[in-house]
Amino acid sequence: MNPLIVANWKMNPSDSLQAEKIAEAVEISVREYETVICPPFTFIEKAGSIFNKASLGAQNCSWEVEGAMTGEISPRMLKNIGVRYVIIGHSERRKIFGESNDMISKKVKTALTEGLSVILCVGETEEEMEDGRTEEVIGIQLEEGIGNSKGDVIIAYEPVWAIGSGKACNPDAAEKARLFIKGKMENLSFQNSRILYGGSVNSKNAADYLNKALFSGLLVGGASLDIEEFKKIIGLSR
Ligand code: PGA
Repeated sequence: MNPLIVANWKMNPSDSLQAEKIAEAVEISVREYETVICPPFTFIEKAGSIFNKASLGAQNCSWEVEGAMTGEISPRMLKNIGVRYVIIGHSERRKIFGESNDMISKKVKTALTEGLSVILCVGETEEEMEDGRTEEVIGIQLEEGIGNSKGDVIIAYEPVWAIGSGKACNPDAAEKARLFIKGKMENLSFQNSRILYGGSVNSKNAADYLNKALFSGLLVGGASLDIEEFKKIIGLSR
């Protein structure tokens, strides 16, 4: 299966013309890697009108499909405008917005029921890594986040300390985490789930995670907004 490269634009860019420019540049640069762009909600429909080779993703969704949920966007709404993937449980949502594994598991279940592919983010903080608790933390995030859900669940291993810090995880340590996640997913009856690496990915280290640490793909934040960087990442050969 070709690698899956997911771009997480986070709350950027604030200018819709800039968003269009990046989306257009990505669309013409997609080669054999499956490329998913997750723009802010306000740009999703516009990006969808530009994409043909690239696919649309969202950065978050509600655990309800409709109703009194002020400020929320439901997986059904996303599906109805052509979104295929949704990121759930990003560490910024866990930390800044207090999302618990229980909330995350409800989101995972509803998104899968609505037919979206879920990109579930897991990863340890620096303190947890230093205490040797990486596997324990990821194990709980997987068990509680997935529960008995069924469907296309992609896991993004994103050590919290590597996100946006420029301190990408060493590929050997990342591979160890990948193997742990693979085993855990098999125990949860997900035999062939794709596992992505995320955290300070750039055009120089991307190939290490795909070719050395054998991840199925990447979740890219900052470098996905830099057109030249992102073009190099999605144009790599395996
Ligand atoms: P980064 O972000 O590539 O900027 O470290 C990754 C992410 O938060 O998904």
